Amino acid sequence: MPCDAADSALKIVDFQEAHLPEILAIERASFPRPWNARAFLAEARHPTARIRVLLGPRGRVLGYAVFRRYDQAVHLLNLAVAPACRRQGLGRRLLEEVVQQARRARLPWVVLEVRVSNRAAQRFYEAFGFRRIQRLPGYYDDEDGWLYLYEVPAAHRGGEAGEREPA
Ligand SMILES: CC(C)(COP(=O)(O)OP(=O)(O)OC[C@H]1O[C@@H](n2cnc3c(N)ncnc32)[C@H](O)[C@@H]1OP(=O)(O)O)[C@@H](O)C(=O)NCCC(=O)NCCS
Repeated sequence: MPCDAADSALKIVDFQEAHLPEILAIERASFPRPWNARAFLAEARHPTARIRVLLGPRGRVLGYAVFRRYDQAVHLLNLAVAPACRRQGLGRRLLEEVVQQARRARLPWVVLEVRVSNRAAQRFYEAFGFRRIQRLPGYYDDEDGWLYLYEVPAAHRGGEAGEREPA
């Protein structure tokens, strides 16, 4: 199916169970070991986790990001964009949303892991400003991972009250 991602219709909302069928279709098209419904529902119920869903025209799911808040960092657990909608800046929008959530919680870091074979995702995170920190032997059952870190610019760590937009 072609991508309909008219900019004026894009919005990012909290996960609802009704999004799940489209999320699972994107997930299966994106990862060698996709999450199942139970994994998404467990994150949706987890007290420090959040799933943000990028919707396009007619409420179609175009992508999503799953992350948890810890003491010092937001940990990005999953992020994907529908295959037909890639290279249009939608992944970047989702990452900006994750960074904004870190800013609001006054957390200085966003961390994530990527499969060593997933060069597209590594380029994507590096283009955004993430730094590769460390190889993680056996992080995935069948493969090593890379740990990536993004430092939320200090001037941008606002919190709700003193929120400031990036320059
Ligand atoms: C990685 C992913 C989320 C990127 O989403 P996207 O919407 O295509 O990314 P964007 O269009 O916002 O890309 C922003 C920049 O990242 C870089 N980038 C993104 N995809 C890239 C690719 N396949 N190869 C090289 N660079 C890439 C580019 O610099 C791009 O800017 P440009 O298009 O102006 O050159 C998407 O490819 C995806 O869903 N992949 C499968 C799931 C996955 O691997 N998720 C990450 C797991 S850790």
